[in-house]
Amino acid sequence: MTTGIKKTNSVIECILSRSAAKYYDPVATLSDEEIFELVRIGTAAPTSFHLQNWRFIAVRTREAKARLSPIAWNQPAIADAAVTFVVIGQLVDTSVIPERLAPLVEAGVMPASMVAEWENPARDLYMAYPQRRRDEAVRTATFGASAMIYAARSFGLGSTPMIGFDADAVHREFGLAADEIPVMLLSVGTERPGNWAQKPRRPVSDVLNFI
Ligand SMILES: Cc1cc2nc3c(=O)[nH]c(=O)nc-3n(C[C@H](O)[C@H](O)[C@H](O)COP(=O)(O)O)c2cc1C
Repeated sequence: MTTGIKKTNSVIECILSRSAAKYYDPVATLSDEEIFELVRIGTAAPTSFHLQNWRFIAVRTREAKARLSPIAWNQPAIADAAVTFVVIGQLVDTSVIPERLAPLVEAGVMPASMVAEWENPARDLYMAYPQRRRDEAVRTATFGASAMIYAARSFGLGSTPMIGFDADAVHREFGLAADEIPVMLLSVGTERPGNWAQKPRRPVSDVLNFI
């Protein structure tokens, strides 16, 4: 019996029709409420132990864009897109788990007795391993950015994930904390004509192994 996964729907349509934008309408803006909504949707993405170890800086004024552009290869998306998010991952600190899980206990989603059952293995998994703490920061930010990319597409907006920036300079310029990593920039806005057509992908048979 199959699951019916071959049916199409608006989510699949969003995923399959997206491509990275380079050219944006420099006049089109997004309101603070619309930017807030994009991040709200982004934070519905999953995180390990529900850590939610992310933060988003919405660079949307002319002045803020002028601070970001020179430390991000002067990529045109920064000046032209309505907003560019600095998508930040925070090094895992498992001592925040009781505080992060408290709303779940309050809402009756999770019994209070389970909080320690999450915090203890999480501490063992991460805290003695700097690379794992950092890897999780990158995963968390990437899941969040990914949800925002498809949400943007569903609203008819273009998006560009960007790694072309000086991470140390962004860290300094935007006052990131010592445990924060600027994982990627994500521009979002109304596209203007001239963006490339979708790029063909490697064949699934080259990237999928059945075992
Ligand atoms: C992690 C990551 C970093 C990227 N960095 C940049 C960038 O700095 N500048 C840019 O124009 N595009 C950047 N891109 C966009 C990629 O070039 C683009 O996603 C890729 O060519 C596939 O094209 P598509 O997104 O249109 O399918 C980046 C994409 C990812 C996922």
